[in-house]
Amino acid sequence: MADDTSIFIGASRKPDDSYQRAENLLLQYGNRHGLVTGATGTGKTVSLQILAEGFSNAGVPVFCADIKGDLSGIAMMGTPQDFLVKRAEQVKLDPYDFQEFPVIFWDLFGEQGHPIRATVSEMGPLLLSRLMNLSEAQEGIMNIAFRIADEEGLLLLDLKDLQALLAKIAERAEEIGARYGNVTKPSVGAIQRTLLVLEQQGATNFFGEPALRIADIMRTTRDGRGAISVLAADKLMMNPRLYATFLLWLMSELFEELPEVGDPDKPKLVFFFDEAHLLFDDAPKVLIDRVEQVVRLIRSKGVGVYFVTQNPLDIPETVLAQLGNRVQHALRAYTPREQKAVRTAAETFRPNPDFDCATVITQLGTGEALVSTLEAKGVPSMVQRTLVRPPSSRLGPITPDERRKLITESPVSGQYDQTIDRESAFEMLQKKAKDALDAEAQQQETGRSRWTIPGFGNDDSAPQPTGGRRAPAPRSSNRQTVAEAAIKAVVRSVGSSVGRAIVRGILGSLARGR
Ligand SMILES: Nc1ncnc2c1ncn2[C@@H]1O[C@H](COP(=O)(O)OP(=O)(O)OP(=O)(O)O)[C@@H](O)[C@H]1O
Ligand SMILES: [Mg+2]
Repeated sequence: MADDTSIFIGASRKPDDSYQRAENLLLQYGNRHGLVTGATGTGKTVSLQILAEGFSNAGVPVFCADIKGDLSGIAMMGTPQDFLVKRAEQVKLDPYDFQEFPVIFWDLFGEQGHPIRATVSEMGPLLLSRLMNLSEAQEGIMNIAFRIADEEGLLLLDLKDLQALLAKIAERAEEIGARYGNVTKPSVGAIQRTLLVLEQQGATNFFGEPALRIADIMRTTRDGRGAISVLAADKLMMNPRLYATFLLWLMSELFEELPEVGDPDKPKLVFFFDEAHLLFDDAPKVLIDRVEQVVRLIRSKGVGVYFVTQNPLDIPETVLAQLGNRVQHALRAYTPREQKAVRTAAETFRPNPDFDCATVITQLGTGEALVSTLEAKGVPSMVQRTLVRPPSSRLGPITPDERRKLITESPVSGQYDQTIDRESAFEMLQKKAKDALDAEAQQQETGRSRWTIPGFGNDDSAPQPTGGRRAPAPRSSNRQTVAEAAIKAVVRSVGSSVGRAIVRGILGSLARGR
């Protein structure tokens, strides 16, 4: 059965439906990505659960989204219900042990788990534009906005910072437009309004600090098990674009932060994307290309990405082609699109002479799947009709009380629970505006004094030294310098990570052609 080099998935069946052999996923190929598909109620979530259990037991941290709340039971010990025990016997899982797993609950809204946040600059212009559903021209303005923030040392942490920056850009539209083109007051105004909508949809919670530290989703326990990060995604699903953008951001963060590892004997982290179709639904081609690229490149960082979705057609072909480990649950084949899905799913497997894939896919029972994993040399195994093993943890959701207790006891307890609002673009621009006003008042005062004490050679009628352009009042230019210096100091104190984030613009940096 499964040893420490593989995860036990279940038992394949012979054509006469008798036991054939154990089907395993080799940890060595765990970073070659995977796919779990099937119609509703066919066993996808349970398959995800047993895979997550297997990775955790092998010391591999897991990150997964919990769409319906029914994956949360993975944090609790399972109970020997009859149908589970029977399934264990069918697949020759002996002993069938029950186990609770080290789970960290996360929630973008901070309700069902530790708040999970990212800064605006980490998110970068490409993903933000996608999140706000901006047009190409508007995305261009976002790029410029980020560039200006970068040049002027403005920290973009939360949405208020972005809002302040955009207001500033609208104000300076003419000057900025002359430098970069295509920036007008109305076009910036349109982005500002979209940003308001985003705020109203609750995205405000997500942007800010403390931002998620990747190390916190890559934890292992003292007894060597990988932590399972479970993202509460039920509410998040109401805003599919935020969900998709968040997961893409996380993936690109992993990509940026993790070192190359070549071919590890097991993955460094495994990532399950439930409802993966949301990633690709009306995504522009450029974004699909980026996802394809990130998925391809992240493998060498030891990260395995597993897409979970009802229909294999939901995943673009270029991405599908990279998913080596496959668990295909039953599909229906009534409509032409469903029939096409069945054909596509069937054709992607290495055929088994014992049965016709397309036929079997429509006949699979609950918790039964066509399984093919990568075996020696990374070649896909011949597809097998497989009964999936029962989970060791609880099947179904945990109670709110259990969840609360686990959140309190989690290793990151207290680290993310309070928002920090330190000085960033919003505050700096406010300060700058105040300084400008002060300087103006100062100048007015000086002007008035000139008016009242004329004839000292520097009144309004006196010739200006620099071609008619008035030299700035020394006092205000001085202040400016102080303000700039303060900004630079803040930028420095932030440490290199945010600075780097501004410059690289995450997925955006890939977009610029790596
Ligand atoms: N491997 C398994 N062992 C035992 N029971 C299983 C297994 N897989 C699925 N089941 C049973 O089938 C039920 C439905 O499975 P599951 O929730 O995984 O379906 P799903 O494909 O995720 O459905 P949905 O699309 O609605 O989310 C489970 O609650 C469980 O009772
Ligand atoms: Mg499910």
